[in-house]
Amino acid sequence: MNTATANTQPTLLPSPHFEMLGGEAGVVRLVNAFYRHMDTRPDASGIRAMHEPDLTSTKGVLVLFLCEWLGGPKDYSAQRGHPRLRMRHTGFSIGVSERDAWLACMRAALEDVGAAPALREALMSSFFKTADWMRNTGPNPATPSIISTTTKESS
Ligand code: HEM
Repeated sequence: MNTATANTQPTLLPSPHFEMLGGEAGVVRLVNAFYRHMDTRPDASGIRAMHEPDLTSTKGVLVLFLCEWLGGPKDYSAQRGHPRLRMRHTGFSIGVSERDAWLACMRAALEDVGAAPALREALMSSFFKTADWMRNTGPNPATPSIISTTTKESS
């Protein structure tokens, strides 16, 4: 693997992670728990405000994405095309605190669904890389000029 891409490109994880989380039903539980935390944690109120009041469709899209990202069915790409996650987040101001709030919700959600510790750490490590790569404000944001030399994905 090209090490220059390893830190910035959302990593496609091997399919055992999808199975270990309980398949699509497990991903639905994870996404519900994730947004429950986003709805209630004071440190997530800023990122919650970036979302629509009704999270129904947002949840559905995140379920599709995570199923594919974890190695399950590729319905996200079939329905929405290439993820281009950084580009899809450029409309939101994402710095260190927004990144950390997102990750805190995901860490708590993984605990809620009873993911095994080793799986939790593997997923959180990948989520960190992806969330960090989305920073577009604050100190040392992952700028498109850096992205263009370190990832295959256009932003
Ligand atoms: C770093 C902090 C992050 C913030 C503040 C953030 C915020 C948002 C917001 C406001 C939306 C729009 C929701 C809507 O349209 O209803 C969104 C969409 C999305 N986010 Fe994030 N996000 C973050 C990180 C991540 C990460 C790390 C991932 C994946 C691992 C992710 C995956 C997605 C996906 C798949 C969508 C839907 C994209 C589409 O429209 O196809 N986000 N995010």
